[in-house]
Amino acid sequence: PVYKGDPAKGKVIVDQVCAACHGVDGNSAGSNYPSLAGQHQKYIHDQLQAFKGGVRKNPVMMGMAAPLSDDDMWNVSAYFSSQKIKPREANDKTQMVLGKQVYRVGNPVTRVPACMACHGPAGSGIPDKFPRLSSQHAAYVLTQLNNFKVGTDRKNPVMSDIASRMSDAEMKAVAEYISGL
Ligand code: HEM
Ligand code: HEM
Repeated sequence: PVYKGDPAKGKVIVDQVCAACHGVDGNSAGSNYPSLAGQHQKYIHDQLQAFKGGVRKNPVMMGMAAPLSDDDMWNVSAYFSSQKIKPREANDKTQMVLGKQVYRVGNPVTRVPACMACHGPAGSGIPDKFPRLSSQHAAYVLTQLNNFKVGTDRKNPVMSDIASRMSDAEMKAVAEYISGL
């Protein structure tokens, strides 16, 4: 489906508020701030509603989402999703063997499914279903996997189950692998 949202109106908000952390074009500099460029529009919108409703907890983003109307959320998500994600390379190449294994195969012993099954071989995800992961900062990805595992700040039936089956070593490795996808 095509969603409402005016990228030009979204850019006004992004320039004033979001760019400081997420970058003017959605490619963020800081490794704890997710890049939003090329992320699927509905996913961005829905995460903003989750922060506003307190379902996804992060003190900074709850404050950012609070004043946004639903139309604002469609507008900023239209803007970010229209931007191009800049390809990155993984920093820690020693994690690539295990990271690739987890991403592409999973762990049959602990029943961790292949990430690729939903997020795609290149990490592009599927609009309306699975978020893009490619070129996302490893530190941010690792934080989210831990959040899903703990279940206090972020919950999702699918991802919380998967994260609960993963070891710290698997999470660290797959986060690095994803950052270079
Ligand atoms: C996460 C949007 C401003 C820091 C997110 C996410 C979205 C978003 C959609 C979730 C991304 C994902 O799930 O992949 C926005 C918008 C902003 C804004 C539209 C402006 C209105 C800011 C600012 C900061 C910031 C100014 C820093 C002061 C963060 C952090 C996270 C995040 C730390 C990760 C939260 C977590 O760990 O759950 N933002 N953001 N954002 N944003 Fe923003
Ligand atoms: C979200 C990683 C496997 C479905 C996410 C996010 C990460 C992630 C980091 C948050 C993205 C963000 O904040 O921008 C992984 C890894 C996997 C894996 C490392 C393999 C070990 C899967 C599989 C499925 C799936 C197999 C489908 C059966 C989802 C869904 C979301 C998500 C639906 C969105 C959750 C929400 O709305 O909060 N995944 N994923 N993932 N993933 Fe996965």
